[in-house]
Amino acid sequence: EALLAGTRRLAGRRAIVTSGPTHEPIDPVRYIANRSSGRQGHAIAAALAAAGAEVVLVSGPVAIPAPPGVRLVSVETAREMLAAVEAALPADLGVFVAAVADWRPADAATQKLKKGPGAEPLALTFAENPDILATIGHHRERPAVVVGFAAETQDLFANALAKLDRKGADLILANDVAVDDSGASIMGGTENAVHVVSRDGIETWPRLSKEEVGRRLVDRLADHFSGEGA
Ligand code: CTP
Ligand code: CA
Repeated sequence: EALLAGTRRLAGRRAIVTSGPTHEPIDPVRYIANRSSGRQGHAIAAALAAAGAEVVLVSGPVAIPAPPGVRLVSVETAREMLAAVEAALPADLGVFVAAVADWRPADAATQKLKKGPGAEPLALTFAENPDILATIGHHRERPAVVVGFAAETQDLFANALAKLDRKGADLILANDVAVDDSGASIMGGTENAVHVVSRDGIETWPRLSKEEVGRRLVDRLADHFSGEGA
């Protein structure tokens, strides 16, 4: 048992992971996006694959390579990301790490917008994007275990618990993106400090490398499938 722990514990399980930002076009040469390196989502995909899971990694544009042993589906927009995730169903596990743009420019211009004398100040109108985690959390082909993240700058626990319910998730990894202990934002770094929020309570993990967060999450998910509870 101890020797098996951490090795191939998710063999035969199918997992879908979203990672990175989405890019929402304003015109053919411009977009809006969230800040996301993709490091945490990719690290979770790597840890799932290392545990033997069959992983589909649906990623927005990132500068890092896909981990070995995962099937990469590259997308740009939130709507493309949702379509790619739905196409990858059914799955046993869904882990939604992407920093999806909540809004997109309502009507992307088909020609490049031009500045110039006499031009009106640019005003954009936004439309709300689909919520991928919530859609899959309430899907008729919902994976057995659904995990989300919550990036919060205030009221971390209350907001994370609300997201758990609203989105139909089993687990939310909440991180305080405002500041870390040293007062600096941890976004874009190699480490993550998360609180694991489930209906059973909240567990605070120390500040860890994103790889270690991935491994611990995979341990927790493997416990679920071996009947030790999520
Ligand atoms: N998420 C998603 N699709 C969206 C927005 C968010 O799948 N359109 C997922 C994220 O990948 C993450 C979780 O939902 O796992 C929470 O994202 P977050 O931005 O913290 O929550 P929102 O519901 O968008 O709320 P807000 O940004 O207003 O706090
Ligand atoms: Ca959001």
